Amino acid sequence: MSDVTDAPRHFRTAAVIPAAGRGVRLGPGAPKALRALGGTPMLIHAVRAMARSRAVALVVVVAPADGVAEVKRMLDEHALPERTDVLVVAGGETRQESVRAGLDALPETITAVLIHDAARPLVPVDTVDTVVEAVRDGAPAVVPALPVTDTVKEVEPAAGGAPEPVVATPDRSRLRAVQTPQGFDLATLVRAHDTIAVSGEGATDDAGMVEKLGVPVVLVPGHDEAFKVTRPLDLVLAEAVLARRRATDAY
Ligand code: CTP
Ligand code: MG
Repeated sequence: MSDVTDAPRHFRTAAVIPAAGRGVRLGPGAPKALRALGGTPMLIHAVRAMARSRAVALVVVVAPADGVAEVKRMLDEHALPERTDVLVVAGGETRQESVRAGLDALPETITAVLIHDAARPLVPVDTVDTVVEAVRDGAPAVVPALPVTDTVKEVEPAAGGAPEPVVATPDRSRLRAVQTPQGFDLATLVRAHDTIAVSGEGATDDAGMVEKLGVPVVLVPGHDEAFKVTRPLDLVLAEAVLARRRATDAY
């Protein structure tokens, strides 16, 4: 179980859950975060995953702009720990804008924030607490990550399935795949959002924005079950993880 105790008043942690994406890579259907996993919306799993940490006093859900009322209804229908407050705000066109909308909704009493993808519904509470503890110990930006298993190639991208020339093969032992929740000193992440304008599809990695400020970012161990539901096969894996948890009463 977790070692993280209730938040002291001078150090309050909130979680912002960007959930406003469409889920194009998952295929046609409702916005990804609102689709069911084991009979419960993915977003509810993600909110519960944050609320399970005793350090998290407030969860801000960033809903699809046309789905705020539906998300509020979903949250009303599902039980959450009493100690956790939940707010719902409307998201933007890009993940970066959605995160910004969540940050703008935080009350002034919040000093640290976790940013967690709704699309990572199964992250274990121990991973959440590991991130929170590292932020509490003074790290301005903390990212859970795992070693990559595939060898990764840098290429000159080509369109339409044409052969792509390889530019480089980075040493795999120095590469990590990053997950969420990413934890931040709130003032640092707000400064990153104030400084870095949205360009193109915007930043998909919050810690990458903080890196651009020259602020150090550290990695802590991630977890296999914090994987992101992106493509249809990920749903199969997520259902299997839930089924195993139910069979072993892990949650
Ligand atoms: N997200 C968001 N606002 C956006 C885009 C993404 O809040 N405008 C959120 C998603 O809801 C998701 C997280 O950011 O929880 C990670 O994004 P991703 O996995 O790419 O989800 P989608 O953008 O929904 O999926 P796709 O890129 O396949 O459309
Ligand atoms: Mg996306």
